[in-house]
Amino acid sequence: MAFRKDFLWGAAASSYQIEGAVNEDGRGVSVWDTFSKKKGTTYEGATGEVACDHYHRYQEDVALMKALGLHAYRFSIAWPRILPDGAGAVNERGLDFYSRLVDELLAAGIQPFATLFHWDMPQALEDQGGWRHPESPNWFAAYTAAVVKKLSDRVKFWMPHNEPQCFIGMGHADAAHAPGLKLPWKDVLLAGHHALIAHGKSVQAIRAHAKQPAQVGYAPVGVVAYPSDPKNPHDVAAAQWGTFAVREKNQWNSGWWMDPVFLGTYPDDGLHVYGADVPKFTDADMKTIAEPLDWFGVNIYQGRPVRIGAAGTPEIAPFPPGYPHTTMRWPVTPEALYWGPRFYAERYKLPVYVTENGMANCDWLSADGKVHDPQRIQFLNGYIAALQRAAADGVDVRGYFQWSIMDNYEWAEGYRERFGLVFVDYETQRRIPKDSYYWYQNVIKRNGI
Ligand code: FCB
Repeated sequence: MAFRKDFLWGAAASSYQIEGAVNEDGRGVSVWDTFSKKKGTTYEGATGEVACDHYHRYQEDVALMKALGLHAYRFSIAWPRILPDGAGAVNERGLDFYSRLVDELLAAGIQPFATLFHWDMPQALEDQGGWRHPESPNWFAAYTAAVVKKLSDRVKFWMPHNEPQCFIGMGHADAAHAPGLKLPWKDVLLAGHHALIAHGKSVQAIRAHAKQPAQVGYAPVGVVAYPSDPKNPHDVAAAQWGTFAVREKNQWNSGWWMDPVFLGTYPDDGLHVYGADVPKFTDADMKTIAEPLDWFGVNIYQGRPVRIGAAGTPEIAPFPPGYPHTTMRWPVTPEALYWGPRFYAERYKLPVYVTENGMANCDWLSADGKVHDPQRIQFLNGYIAALQRAAADGVDVRGYFQWSIMDNYEWAEGYRERFGLVFVDYETQRRIPKDSYYWYQNVIKRNGI
């Protein structure tokens, strides 16, 4: 079998996308509460105020995870539940929710994977400048310590950040996500630098306070290039280059957000492309950012085909007309789950966990009372088969998390995009496992495709 015997089959979700209960048990306001209430920021003005009401229904949700056969569940902790004002007194009632969730997971035989930051920064901190503030790494370290003290007797696997490319780039440059800013690139990169230092300080805080040896990773976006012709070594080299390259002044690359964390340096091409906008940084900063990790985690949804062009330089190859895509308009590129893990493992030399992968589909309830999602089954089949090939070729892949266990609040897209293995009828909060849920159950049982 390609996958290790102890391969972790998982699914993921995040706090603001599923919990709801935004005013309960002393939770403070997050940037997503503020942003989503502003006119024109999200599809149909949707907010996460109720979402999947997971805060009250977590037991039912964990029961669905157990019946699915999940080995691991990746969730995130809402910073404003723990520190309603961002800093200062810890709100025990907020911590208690995650404590109950973790107990429920462990009782179901499911390994908790905790993400500390999946984008819901306390508004009180944003009001002081958020990630642009030089103190933000210390705020994040203090928050990390509070969570780790409470949960680390039971939680072993941790990730400080989810996708800095998104909360920094989409939040601070594109105004597409909270906090909804359109800043000069210089300020965006400064916020990014602070977020990376915050990552390092959070790793230190995890190690300092963990009650058992912690397994710490990361969950950036995997911006993956794959070779147009996998048999052509020049295309393979071009794709490897394309996976890490910083080519344009935007956030969509792997190198800028990964090299500092795993290699302790910003990549040269990034320093060149971002030029005068690169923040001043010290050796001490880079040392903090590169605090050693135990595993490499990455969210991979799609890739771009890259080939060696006529001039002998790498170029992005076009998709043929009518190429398959999801309802997010993301191309369906299973190759990304072979080449991504392979390139990342080669460069960073750590075991790989795919911390997110999945697709949005136009799912609805059929007359037979079921939710049929053959596209998702086909999608996952292709991607997991590619990951399986990577494992067979010697890439040290340790786990895979499907995004998402259930339909949820897809940020600016509101509730119109459905990513779940479980369908959520938001009006009644009824959960209905989709066909893909039963298909994935079987994959887990067989440890692969
Ligand atoms: C990722 C996010 C996650 C979800 C999926 C579809 O970028 O980490 O919260 O929105 O995309």
